[in-house]
Amino acid sequence: MDNLAPHSFYTVASVRPPIVQFTSVGEKDSLRNIRARREFVVNLAPAWLLEEVNATGTDFAPDISEFDAVGLTREPSAVVTPPRVRESPVALECRLHQILPMGDCYLVFGEIVHAAVFSDALDTSHPQIGLLEPLARLGRDEWGTIGAIREIKRIRAADWPGHFRREADGAYE
Ligand SMILES: Cc1cc2nc3c(=O)[nH]c(=O)nc-3n(C[C@H](O)[C@H](O)[C@H](O)COP(=O)(O)O)c2cc1C
Repeated sequence: MDNLAPHSFYTVASVRPPIVQFTSVGEKDSLRNIRARREFVVNLAPAWLLEEVNATGTDFAPDISEFDAVGLTREPSAVVTPPRVRESPVALECRLHQILPMGDCYLVFGEIVHAAVFSDALDTSHPQIGLLEPLARLGRDEWGTIGAIREIKRIRAADWPGHFRREADGAYE
């Protein structure tokens, strides 16, 4: 059964190869489905889908699809079998890399095999965060939006004067 659930315990685990990670607190349908299918899709949760994203966190029975219950649209993925959410501006199609048990949780790692972004949210090839409007879960029932965006250049050690200066060694991620 197609399954959706919000996961705020989520991060980048590796750049090359591109691997993302989320944490399942205990055994849930998302984890069970990923074990069985070995593929999944990470859909970005934008501010304009707050109600729907929250509703996908309902503890429905395993034979209920959150797509149908919440009214989100299945869109065929480009590479993996599970569908992605048409209304979401970013979809990361993943193949299961590893599941790591940790305490009472499971860390799920997925290698991104395809990334899809709304074309009107791209500035040439770069996603514009202000147009993606990602939601953050803050704790309890509180959620945040990103607010004002500030830009500041990172300073390289090679550009610092005197004692603080260090020759560039190429490592600058
Ligand atoms: C905003 C939000 C963030 C959540 N983040 C997580 C998370 O990181 N890990 C987790 O296991 N559950 C998280 N949950 C709870 C799951 O989404 C919830 O248990 C859901 O019913 C699991 O669905 P599933 O059984 O279909 O996988 C979160 C819930 C909300 C509303």
